[in-house]
Amino acid sequence: MEAGQAPRRNLTGSNQMGHGTDERWCVMSTPNGGFVDKILIRGGKPLNGAVHVRGAKNAALPLMAAVIMAEEPCTLHNVPCLHDVFTMDKLLSTMGMQIEFTGRYMTLQADGISEPYAPYDLVRKMRASFFVLGPLLARFGSAKVSLPGGCAIGTRPVDIHLKGLEALGASICIEDGYVVAKGPLNGANYALDFPSVGATENLMMAACRAKGVTRLTNVAREPEIEDLAYLLNTMGAQISGAGTDMITVVGVDSLGGAEHVVIPDRIEAGTFLVAGVATHGDVTVLNANPDHLPGFLDKLREAGAEVEAHGSRIRAAAPNGLRAVDVTTRPYPGFPTDLQAQTMTMLCRAEGVSHIKETVFENRFMQAAELVRMGADITLDGNTAIVRGVPRLSGAPVMASDLRASAALVIAGLMADQGATAIARVYHIDRGYEQIEERLAALGATIERVRN
Ligand code: EPZ
Repeated sequence: MEAGQAPRRNLTGSNQMGHGTDERWCVMSTPNGGFVDKILIRGGKPLNGAVHVRGAKNAALPLMAAVIMAEEPCTLHNVPCLHDVFTMDKLLSTMGMQIEFTGRYMTLQADGISEPYAPYDLVRKMRASFFVLGPLLARFGSAKVSLPGGCAIGTRPVDIHLKGLEALGASICIEDGYVVAKGPLNGANYALDFPSVGATENLMMAACRAKGVTRLTNVAREPEIEDLAYLLNTMGAQISGAGTDMITVVGVDSLGGAEHVVIPDRIEAGTFLVAGVATHGDVTVLNANPDHLPGFLDKLREAGAEVEAHGSRIRAAAPNGLRAVDVTTRPYPGFPTDLQAQTMTMLCRAEGVSHIKETVFENRFMQAAELVRMGADITLDGNTAIVRGVPRLSGAPVMASDLRASAALVIAGLMADQGATAIARVYHIDRGYEQIEERLAALGATIERVRN
């Protein structure tokens, strides 16, 4: 298997290069994570049709980490077949967890984990690996986890995670780039400086095994937090308030097994809806949850799109184009930062001037320079991007820089009505979108992946 290639699971569960897509099984139809792959797009066609939304990447990753604390096997359904899920699988398996991942069905058994250690060479590949800190500390009373380091969108410190664990009684020190944490953990009250998603998840998991009651305030309210609390309570935890700004956890002595269905990926749903309206098409996402996209769907409507939600179906269409809107990203339930890049692309051809303010991350406009190369008119002023609508975009060779910026470049390629777009470093997109080219092609896109 080449460097950077994620292990692939097929019907037998063995790692081998699978070919041919089967909707039911996690056999990727294209190489996943190839560093030299490119995606080629010839745009100018409206996307039309329906697409199934997969399980949420940002729910599946903490759910997998939570199983570290389970004294019996757990089963997860609707797990997305993504590079990041394979990376978490590899980290947990290296630590001793037994994982079988076939199709969208994953069984995990944690009794083989012998030492609470997460090495740098695995943690550095994906920041979400840091979610193992709380569960390891809760189960073993100590943990040594590599600091995750920054990434393209920001330095992404973990101070809120560490201050919260110290509030729970842990002693924390940093040694050679590792967090060395020692318990025991005792229930406490702790107010997060910022509603950090990861810190909320790490602290909620750690508090499950702390002695006494923990009250976490100013916590993240994302649906993925509620999904994690649901799994933990099924395992025997006593958590209340997930999804609000205060979470209460009554510590328990042990956590058992559970079976759980991962919630739909709201960011994937939003990405496909943006692709539909940005190409002046009509796209419906299936098995989605409209309640998980409150700030986003309203913004699409404000931009002039027709948006209808019925049960688990969301339809968005913009046959007559879009008008400029102002967007400010916020923690949930505000406009999601993970849909900012895609929305910026959509607004590049909207009538008028849009202002996009990114308040969650300090460097999340990486897509702007590449969009300008495709003919967009974008000016950056600190954490605000001023987007002046232009009549058209043109295809160009571009470079993906991070997961959501790469999705934005794919959408730009689909919008470009002259020339072809070649996107390099598509391993970024494989981290968070399953079979992206097949699924867009099914909506009418002219798109293919080529290996150099
Ligand atoms: C989660 O990252 C998501 N990742 C991100 O999605 C998402 O963008 C982010 O939440 C915000 O919604 C996963 O769930 C795996 P944060 P996380 O802690 O937990 C600062 C994607 O594209 N901060 O809420 O790392 C931090 O620097 C990814 O799917 C501290 O200062 O995000 C950032 O500016 C990208 N100290 C802000 O808070 C801390 O201790 C939000 O970060 C922690 C965070």
